[in-house]
Amino acid sequence: MESNTQKAIDYSHEHIQEFIDSLIDFLKIQTLSSDKSYKGEVRKGAEWLAAYLKRLDVQDIRIIDTNNNPIVYGSLHQAGEDKPTILIYGHYDVQPPDPLDEWMSPPFEPTIKDGILYARGSSDMKGQAMVSLAAIQSILAFDKMPVNLKFLFEGDEEVGSPSILPFLNEYKDLFKSDFVLNLDAGMVAKDMPTIVYGLRGLAYFEILVTGPAHDLHSGLFGGIVYNPIHALSKLIAGMKDEHGKIQLPGYYDDVLPLEKKERDELNALDNPDQYYIDEMGAKAVFGEEGFSNVERIGARPTLDVNGIWGGYTGEGSKTVIPSKAHAKLSMRLVPNQTPEKVRQQLTQYMQENAPKEVSWEIKQLSSDPAYLTHIDSKPTRCFIQSLEKVMGKKPVFKREGGSIPISTHFQNLLGCESVMSGFSLPGDRVHSPNERLDLELFEQGIEVIIDYFYRVAQECGD
Ligand code: BES
Ligand code: ZN
Repeated sequence: MESNTQKAIDYSHEHIQEFIDSLIDFLKIQTLSSDKSYKGEVRKGAEWLAAYLKRLDVQDIRIIDTNNNPIVYGSLHQAGEDKPTILIYGHYDVQPPDPLDEWMSPPFEPTIKDGILYARGSSDMKGQAMVSLAAIQSILAFDKMPVNLKFLFEGDEEVGSPSILPFLNEYKDLFKSDFVLNLDAGMVAKDMPTIVYGLRGLAYFEILVTGPAHDLHSGLFGGIVYNPIHALSKLIAGMKDEHGKIQLPGYYDDVLPLEKKERDELNALDNPDQYYIDEMGAKAVFGEEGFSNVERIGARPTLDVNGIWGGYTGEGSKTVIPSKAHAKLSMRLVPNQTPEKVRQQLTQYMQENAPKEVSWEIKQLSSDPAYLTHIDSKPTRCFIQSLEKVMGKKPVFKREGGSIPISTHFQNLLGCESVMSGFSLPGDRVHSPNERLDLELFEQGIEVIIDYFYRVAQECGD
């Protein structure tokens, strides 16, 4: 007799076009969390998810308001109290699509070419959210869910989840589960199924340097005033030396060295420089001396300027000495560093290095610490088995460079560890023009998750 797992898998293949069509619908909604003028669209994204959950007969569906964008909640308890409850995590917001003229097809008009779906959010992470929903739908076509489920979809992940901590604190009983399944962490390569066991944190700042109280004629005043753009540029330039070492005072003090075993395991996943050069389209790789690329990405902290502006940038010329210069600056953090301490280090650097002729202020935009999980937990062991069974290869274990701020709060407030993986590739151009999703992986992902739900039901119950 055909097993229920196989029946659901067969169903998922037969209905794959339906799932892709639903995903396309979802991708058309412009859920930009960074831009307040898109609030209505973001809410539409939440409503779309709530409606989809309703189709799956999920109970107690709620769109809960927060100080920012709403959270979609639901629960599907069909498996009985002896079976585990998995919290399915996802985010329905996306990053801004600019620069728009670099897209081959418009970012919110999903387009399929050669088995690849192009759209903002296709890989990060509406496509990943759809993997779970499609897996559940395939099982429910002729069975009960073998595990209990809760859902949490947030609309602020891409802006650092600023209101998630008070929210989860208030609703911790509602979201109480045994563990979290988070498919927002990706995989190393198409033939390398991946368990992600570490994420970096993020400390994000905006710096404002002010010179004169208002813009000045550069002829009348040029030569007697400190230009704030010049001051800011020098400050930023000094934050890293030519070997890629960050110069904020004490920046590396809390960074724990990798143990030899972990270092060796991570380095087994490294690629030659040329791989990264091709992925990035850059002339060369550049990073902290003494570390491999995979270590620099997953296990070492960074500092990057994300944007810098000020003065006149329109067409033609304007002879002006600007009053203000701005920069957005962020640090990816590793375990044991804290965003608060990094803020102090940045402040100290500014105090010690900013010229006395200008004034400055720092605003902190997001602060989330790094997150590490245990790869030998039962839920993760089951995921390893499902990946191996469906994808035909043992997964690799990776520390990733990106951040998912809610992970730490799941751990600290709900006591829930996250199983982190996903079906997005390093070449998917996430956060960049022409974001893409490999539809073959999407289909395989659904199979993995179906297998996983049945496997967890058998192996993780009471
Ligand atoms: N999916 C990413 C996180 C990610 C990227 C995990 C690569 C593993 C590998 C997520 O959507 C994301 O982009 N997060 C932001 C969070 C930030 C705004 C606090 C990030 O990492 O920039
Ligand atoms: Zn993202």
